Amino acid sequence: MTNAVKRIGVLTSGGDAPGMNAAVRAVVRTALSRGMECVGIRRGWSGLINSDFVMLGASNVRHILSRGGTMLYTARSEEFKTPEGRKKAVATCRLLGLDAIVAIGGDGTFKGALELSRLGVPVVGIPATIDNDIGCSNYTIGFDTACNTAVECIDKLRDTMQSHERCSVVEVMGRHAGFLALYVGLSVGATAVLIPEVELDFQRDVVAPIQKARLNGSTHFMIVVAEGSGKATEIGAQIHETLGIDPRVTILGHIQRGGSPTARDREMACRMGYAAVTALAEGRGNSVICTQEGRLVEIPIEEALKMEKHLQMDRYEVLEALQARMPD
Ligand code: F6P
Repeated sequence: MTNAVKRIGVLTSGGDAPGMNAAVRAVVRTALSRGMECVGIRRGWSGLINSDFVMLGASNVRHILSRGGTMLYTARSEEFKTPEGRKKAVATCRLLGLDAIVAIGGDGTFKGALELSRLGVPVVGIPATIDNDIGCSNYTIGFDTACNTAVECIDKLRDTMQSHERCSVVEVMGRHAGFLALYVGLSVGATAVLIPEVELDFQRDVVAPIQKARLNGSTHFMIVVAEGSGKATEIGAQIHETLGIDPRVTILGHIQRGGSPTARDREMACRMGYAAVTALAEGRGNSVICTQEGRLVEIPIEEALKMEKHLQMDRYEVLEALQARMPD
């Protein structure tokens, strides 16, 4: 990148995540403090195609740090996946005089960012998804808030499950990744946690843990299921059939994506937003701002998209150790 960046476009794309607003605010405030202008692109990549924008000054991002969702709206754009769609997006960038884009979202967002950067528009990505499933970054904005929301809900469920001596099957989000399920499962002392990374063996993963918990003295059981590892309703039915108990099934669903971001998500969003604009101001771009071993690093988008992150199975081992049969 050679030319100085004077006007930045910022957008949020894909599933929303608590802390996206905090990241937008950090981008805008950092840009303004460096004498740049900021244009908010609404509804993700489709906003760039359709020239759907709003000029962003300091007053536009006032009081959004603590708000969930995204003031810029978000969407998943099929049109942006086509060369024609991307051509329109580049035309919008020219029309609005955008020198660079900051794209806040997940893997899908970064795939779009890579395509746009190949057409000559510099892009910096900020990872934000409650799934925490972005290979290049240890952490993604929104994960902590979603974990806390799920934990709060499951703690409430436990009260009634314990009173009625019931089995609860709770489905949490995570179509392809079990980060949320595993963190939440550990945090609520789940009887069993089912994640997409481990192929389901019903006897080993559900029946045996329930039996073990019963022998340990439990009269209620909490099974946490990541949506990508099976349908909670089917698992509940199978438990009924196999063990003769009558589980209650709860699907937490989109409630996990809402709410005021936790301190961790706000802090991360502030730092990542600042880092994204700083990179552009210093003439760098076409990268994703990632956390690696506690530090923020810039990784080229192409490389970032190839990186894989595996679930820390040691947490699974902790879960098993804490569920083991033990004397009082
Ligand atoms: O990617 C985040 C996520 O919340 C996944 O966990 C979930 O499977 C998906 O989005 C749900 O998407 P939608 O909002 O389109 O139903």
